[in-house]
Amino acid sequence: MQSIHSVTDKNLYEQVADRIQQLIAEGTLQTGDRLPSVRKLHEQWSVSISTVLEAYRLLEDRGFIAARPQSGYYVKQTFLQVPDEPHQSAPPQKPRHVDNSLGFRVICTIRDSQTIKLGAAVPSMELLPLQALNRLMGQILRQHPTLAHAYDVPPGCESLRHEVARRLMDAGCSIAPDQIVTTNGTFESVFLSLRAVTQPGDTVAIESPTYYGLLEALEILHLKALELPTHPRDGLSLPHLEMALQKKRIAACALVSNFSNPLGTCMSDAKKQQIVELLAQYEVPLIEDDIYGDLYFEGTRPKAMKAFDREGLVLYCSSCSKTLSPGFRVGWAVAGRYQAKVEQLKWVINQTTAIAPQLTIAAFLSNGGYDRHLRQLRRAYQSQMARMTQAIHDYFPAEARVTRPDGGHVVWVELPECCNALTLYESALQQHISIAPGQIFSPSGSYANCLRLNCGLPWSNAIDQAMLKLGELIQQQMQAGI
Ligand SMILES: Cc1ncc(COP(=O)(O)O)c(C=O)c1O
Repeated sequence: MQSIHSVTDKNLYEQVADRIQQLIAEGTLQTGDRLPSVRKLHEQWSVSISTVLEAYRLLEDRGFIAARPQSGYYVKQTFLQVPDEPHQSAPPQKPRHVDNSLGFRVICTIRDSQTIKLGAAVPSMELLPLQALNRLMGQILRQHPTLAHAYDVPPGCESLRHEVARRLMDAGCSIAPDQIVTTNGTFESVFLSLRAVTQPGDTVAIESPTYYGLLEALEILHLKALELPTHPRDGLSLPHLEMALQKKRIAACALVSNFSNPLGTCMSDAKKQQIVELLAQYEVPLIEDDIYGDLYFEGTRPKAMKAFDREGLVLYCSSCSKTLSPGFRVGWAVAGRYQAKVEQLKWVINQTTAIAPQLTIAAFLSNGGYDRHLRQLRRAYQSQMARMTQAIHDYFPAEARVTRPDGGHVVWVELPECCNALTLYESALQQHISIAPGQIFSPSGSYANCLRLNCGLPWSNAIDQAMLKLGELIQQQMQAGI
């Protein structure tokens, strides 16, 4: 590497920082990449250790890199050249019945192996520890040849509930294993929770846009949805929630608390606490979906809203579907006051979750290197999201806005008003590209000009080409609309 020393007014550490910043801007160092160790850079660039340290601190202050304990410095998701973020949503303020059959149609495209799956929020199998899970499952079946075939009753496998309780400490929750019921994934946890706290005809307050699976559950349970304005960074609008509570319009509230789907919102602790306390004031239960909580890109795990629950009114729902295995269908619920009801519903609907997957996940959480795996997964998602955002910048019209989540693996794109995401979905599908059109995330059919893209798949030439094609299809729509 050429010497860093040059004639300029800047201090040497600032020159080092500028040079590294340039390497990030040019893409030599990409999001999630580890920077050279302090000692290595000291040797390579012939600058003192304290100069390198100063430069790294300056880059941290500028927001380009972050230190990870006992690991070094990494390039942060900085979005050097990215589109603006969408504004707070403004859905119609009226409870309405839900018909989301379109959401189910869209999700079915994941079956087609020829399709580039930018539509469904699926993790890539390459990024999951499948070999380790398969090995553990084999060991478990050999060690307990009859156990996996026996009947069981809720709340489910003790060893899994113990591991989940231990992990929930990182989310700020003090939960005993016997407060947890195991389920067939987050979706079932949410479904059972909704069923436990509502009656047909009730209204549930939701973020807007929201996860379309939640809308399908509301539809099946004959519940109405009240869409609340939601900001991609700040989350749900508190004044609108308060207004709905004052008018006694809602029986429950259902939210994705961390790196929501589709906006990627992660509310501050203060906001989470305010929402939990406000709902408690009106004795309205909160169904918290925390499926993406372990997928934060920087710092420490964000708190669950359950951490602020003093009244047992938060029904916490999560699973290992986005981190270990979607197909194992292993999830859990911590239903507070409603635990007995949730356990009974679980029993009536499908008795228990299959025992072998529960034991396998418990074994992996206890000694399979979950934290190490998560570190790699988070880095991969962060880098894939940065690539996706760059592709949106490069290939989509300049007016497009995109969210900048600090975790999870989906982004939400707002196109110019004249675009129609459903038409785009149909024409993209003909090119073997799936996207999730904005309309499926709202019971009022809002967000016709929006789409959600999955960043769960390792970046490839095929994905890059798919994004280029999507950009062309959008341009065609815009030209036709003019
Ligand atoms: C917000 C949210 N909740 C729940 C689910 C479904 O989770 P599971 O596969 O654990 O049932 C998903 C899947 O995409 C999701 O994004």
